[in-house]
Amino acid sequence: MPVDPFTIAAQAGGTHESSGLDSGIVPAMQPSTTFRRGPGLTDEFIYRRYGHPGAVAVEETATQLDGGAAALVFSSGMAALSAVLDSVPMGGHVVAPMVMYHGGQDWMRAQADIGRIALTLFDSDDPEALEKALTSATDLLWLETPTNPLWGLIDIAAATKLGHAAGATVVVDSTVAPPVTTRPLDLGADLVFHSATKYYNGHSDVLAGILITKVFDDRWKRIETIRGSHGSILGAFDAWLLLRGLRTMPLRYRRSCETAAAIAAVFEGHPQVERVLYPGLASHPGHDIAVRQMTDGFGGMLSVLVKGGSSHALQVAESTRLFANATSLGGVESLIEHRASYQSTPVPENLLRISVGIEDPDELIADLGQALSG
Ligand SMILES: Cc1ncc(COP(=O)(O)O)c(C=O)c1O
Repeated sequence: MPVDPFTIAAQAGGTHESSGLDSGIVPAMQPSTTFRRGPGLTDEFIYRRYGHPGAVAVEETATQLDGGAAALVFSSGMAALSAVLDSVPMGGHVVAPMVMYHGGQDWMRAQADIGRIALTLFDSDDPEALEKALTSATDLLWLETPTNPLWGLIDIAAATKLGHAAGATVVVDSTVAPPVTTRPLDLGADLVFHSATKYYNGHSDVLAGILITKVFDDRWKRIETIRGSHGSILGAFDAWLLLRGLRTMPLRYRRSCETAAAIAAVFEGHPQVERVLYPGLASHPGHDIAVRQMTDGFGGMLSVLVKGGSSHALQVAESTRLFANATSLGGVESLIEHRASYQSTPVPENLLRISVGIEDPDELIADLGQALSG
């Protein structure tokens, strides 16, 4: 069994035989919603809402990549996050970082507002805050690292220890640090979450979410039942596209990391820039943790705090020619956005979030330079 993410990803889906066309190097797309049953036929698939060959091919690859026991693929990252939240008992206590993907936090707050869960947010920059937030009644500790969009680092091993001491299940949103560079299960976490819309797919044409578990336990069974009942499994064609995308994920991720590091180094000292936030910079507050925890690249995401406040930031985002002014991350094309224009959680008004794609690094640097100086 290969263990290197480049080998696992490159051969994704190539060994699954359930498509019925198993001589293909690439698995066939199986769109059926129902599957024949009976003597001599496999019962692995019954009805697509519970599982289908394309989903299983993605799940097998994700399980191997993150070193887990099993995986489930969903119709979006948010569908996967919702399934995890739905596995929390009525009124159960959830702890999550103050700085995290705002859409996920919005949904947690909405669930807390109706009494479905009790929610405590902790400041991940304060070393004592997590311990104070956890209680013996905490059911779930949600972590995200690097945190969106300041790219702060949470020490997964240390946070997991605290979570487990309180009796909580620990989930890590590792969207920005896929298993090429960080494997949260190896650091003690119980579940890993990826918005596979991002680096896993990488081509900005599929919404998907993946959960990987360390062990088969009752919570995992509940999550699987929730996905089957809600029908939030990824569709057949999207699973096929995702499998194609993830075959090159390690290669794309490594390229994005290298270019992001180059951009961060060039613009840290730029006269129009107040600060660059990138885990790979020695000046970044989470750099020491990043060195330990992100073993093969500091990510393709960085934020640039420009001089001249929000009006200059908006002007820069509108003046780039290669970076598209758009949200999302992890695609082959580079994106730039002014987060304060729409993010629901606090963010500096002069912050530009940048997702670095796979274009030529020098051309990207020149484009950002002309936009900042223009
Ligand atoms: C870190 C992170 N987690 C979760 C999500 C939600 O994933 P999706 O958009 O696939 O539903 C996103 C989306 O932007 C994200 O950036």
